[in-house]
Amino acid sequence: MLNFGCDYLEGAHEKILARFIETNMEKEPGYGADKYTISAKKKILDACECPDGEVFLLVGGTQTNSTVIDAYLNNYQGVIAAPTGHIACHESGAIESCGHKVLTIPQHLGKIEAGELKEFLVNFYADETYEHQVIPGMVYISHPTEYGTLYTKAELEAIYSICKEYEMPLFVDGARLGYGLAADDTDVTLPDLAKLCDAFYIGGTKVGALCGEAVVFTKKAPKFFFTTVKQHGALLAKGRLVGIQFDTLFTDDLYMEISKHAIRLANILKAGVLAKGYKLLLDSPTNQQFIIVDNVKYAELKKQVAFSTWEKVDDNHTAIRFATSWATKEEDVQALLALL
Ligand SMILES: Cc1ncc(COP(=O)(O)O)c(C=O)c1O
Repeated sequence: MLNFGCDYLEGAHEKILARFIETNMEKEPGYGADKYTISAKKKILDACECPDGEVFLLVGGTQTNSTVIDAYLNNYQGVIAAPTGHIACHESGAIESCGHKVLTIPQHLGKIEAGELKEFLVNFYADETYEHQVIPGMVYISHPTEYGTLYTKAELEAIYSICKEYEMPLFVDGARLGYGLAADDTDVTLPDLAKLCDAFYIGGTKVGALCGEAVVFTKKAPKFFFTTVKQHGALLAKGRLVGIQFDTLFTDDLYMEISKHAIRLANILKAGVLAKGYKLLLDSPTNQQFIIVDNVKYAELKKQVAFSTWEKVDDNHTAIRFATSWATKEEDVQALLALL
């Protein structure tokens, strides 16, 4: 059975596994004080051209989102996000369980828009009872979004300038960041991103690591962030587990190299389905591809390949999602195209 169900189907890149074995019997201090974590943090800041930033290595996406958001907000504040944002609809209320409401504004293919963000804030503060409501305290976006779409540099600049105007941090969920940075026509680089937000994370779980997300605070981490990480159960005693992985991913450009592989295969898949006359739900430049199939084809494909059912398009058509990753084989993409 072919499987394009998501981008975390396999274990870890073989170079990571090799380094686990090589370093296995070394005695290293815990909680991120090991030499691999220290080296990974330096390599990440160098790649971001952000020497004054601070990096923390956490374990998974939901945990990272809830820890960062909880660290930034007071208990009377919420976080602005798209209704399709991962924190708004796929995290089991992880943000709300810390006491912070997710405040949604309109989305367009997964993205929020600077003008609408401003409009929301203007209207919020124009309401003379605003102090009776949850106060917007920060903005969350994802890049790539849950629809595989990307912000342009100009869009990020516009959003960030409103965040600054309202003194709210901008936090970018980069669970799939590699696939965004490696996309063909993006004008957003890692150093750009580091200039255009207060915090973002470099997703490892979906991009070659067994697990792990590297949070980059581009200026300064919120006070006692380490302690907040611990409170969230996110501080690994054996911090080397994530340190070794990011140290490997940020050696010899491995992170970008494996991200480009996923994009190349996604592009082959996209060109192949278009050549066969299928329509796309949207034009995703990243590793998630959304294809519209009729219901007969849908039922047939279900027996032969794993994918995500995205949404019903009309009574006769369904949009399905195929994800490529660092580990996808080209022969599997060709086999999928043959089935389509
Ligand atoms: C954009 C985004 N953020 C966060 C997450 C959450 O990651 P995890 O499943 O590791 O908690 C996901 C998972 O699919 C995601 O797509």
